[in-house]
Amino acid sequence: MATGARANRQFLARAVRHLAGEAGIRQFLDIGTGIPTANNTHEVAQSVAPDSRIVYVDHDPIVLLHARALLSSSDAGQIDYLDADLRDTGQILEQASGILDFSRPVAIMLIAILHAIGDDDDPYEIVARLLEAVPAGSYLALSHGASDIDAEQMAEVAARINRLSQQKFTPRSRAEVTRFFDGLELLEPGVVRVEEWRPAVSGFGVPKQSAMWGAVARKT
Ligand SMILES: C[S@@+](CC[C@H](N)C(=O)[O-])C[C@H]1O[C@@H](n2cnc3c(N)ncnc32)[C@H](O)[C@@H]1O
Repeated sequence: MATGARANRQFLARAVRHLAGEAGIRQFLDIGTGIPTANNTHEVAQSVAPDSRIVYVDHDPIVLLHARALLSSSDAGQIDYLDADLRDTGQILEQASGILDFSRPVAIMLIAILHAIGDDDDPYEIVARLLEAVPAGSYLALSHGASDIDAEQMAEVAARINRLSQQKFTPRSRAEVTRFFDGLELLEPGVVRVEEWRPAVSGFGVPKQSAMWGAVARKT
């Protein structure tokens, strides 16, 4: 889990660097912020493009308390923090429109959060509603716990978390994760383990250690 968490944060940083850099994105909707750590979305985005605007969303008040205390924007950019549930896309979109302009491209970041949404809450519909609200040229960056990497161990991890924790864990297969990108144009290399998504150092082989799928795709 620790290895996966580290690889996931590095994936987030590489994805944001690409989005703010080559892709020219200046607006980020980061849902499932988590406790601030290294390479937070705004730090990476604003290091590339200082005028980037980021809305962080989480439903955990402790996360938001830390985020407000620790995450501060560049002078040229802007950050906001929303206390909202991913399942309430209407509230998120309405409140985020305070600083995000939804007539211009937005990167929707769903990094290590969708596995907290069980099938009963229809995660595909949630993602579709968010994508509907953004114009062509927007992006979806997503990572997700895998049910088909180290499948037995992951099933055990899921069973334990679901027994012990209020926050549920539904790992999904590569095919199920790929479905979140239906109708979008997947950037190379597609849906891969997070550490394999455009690794910073290539040519030496990337150690495969995480049980997380990740990808970035463009709305056309
Ligand atoms: C595993 S952390 C991921 C943090 C960060 N995105 C990363 O990848 O390092 C998941 C975060 O999603 C938040 N979260 C889980 N379910 C949520 C929901 N339904 N609505 C909003 N936030 C949620 C949790 O509070 C937690 O902060």
